[in-house]
Amino acid sequence: MRVPIIAGNWKMHKTVAESVDFVNQVKDQLPPANELETALAGPTLSLVSMHNAAIGSPLKIAAENCYYQNEGAYTGETSPLALYQAGIHHVILGHSERRRYFHETDEIINKKIKAALAAGLCPIVCCDDTMGRRVAGSQVHWVVNRILLDAQGLSADDICRVTFAYEPNWAIGTGQSADPSQAAEGCYLIRQTISYMYNRDVADNVRILYGGSVTTDNIHQLMNNRDIDGVLVGGASLDPQTFLQLVNH
Ligand code: G3P
Repeated sequence: MRVPIIAGNWKMHKTVAESVDFVNQVKDQLPPANELETALAGPTLSLVSMHNAAIGSPLKIAAENCYYQNEGAYTGETSPLALYQAGIHHVILGHSERRRYFHETDEIINKKIKAALAAGLCPIVCCDDTMGRRVAGSQVHWVVNRILLDAQGLSADDICRVTFAYEPNWAIGTGQSADPSQAAEGCYLIRQTISYMYNRDVADNVRILYGGSVTTDNIHQLMNNRDIDGVLVGGASLDPQTFLQLVNH
């Protein structure tokens, strides 16, 4: 039985003070993690304060990125091991905004996944998609290739610590969510690829989220789909009461 997850991705929003205030507002109103996992990915500057505020609650705190080295002359980067040692045990990797604006390739993302796992982190690995590929009929090839390349060389034990997120670009930040069947199709493609790479049992253990304009209006339908294990929410996760409504959908 895969425990569902509702995770917020705050991107480059919220000051440290706003981040801590948010955590304090929601942390005592969340379900037990074995019923529904809840997580918030915040800006790097906020993570330690968010973690400290969340101690004793089921809320998990995630980084939005990390490097693939733990230490060295890599100006501006964030060490996966330092994240783990600071108590931050989850990290989003390969978000479409990282691929688009910061030119992260599958090779780089694969290195980051391996380094994050080696440091003890649990990655949330994003797989993007575009409407153009859906129309052209090349969506399957695109999604399958992303997973094959991003997860290359991971053991079965490794992959079971990875959560994936299908995030079609046309739905991110647009208010136009994929409909439940499109979202489920993307998640199903990821699960089938994992089954091909490993086996059915591994594929059935891995959790796969949908992300892209998730709101309180569509979350119930999205979460009520056997191929979708949770959601990764941007804009709608920025307000504490809305986040709680998503959790209690
Ligand atoms: O990682 C989730 C994010 O890309 C979705 O953003 O604002 O469309 O919910 P949003």
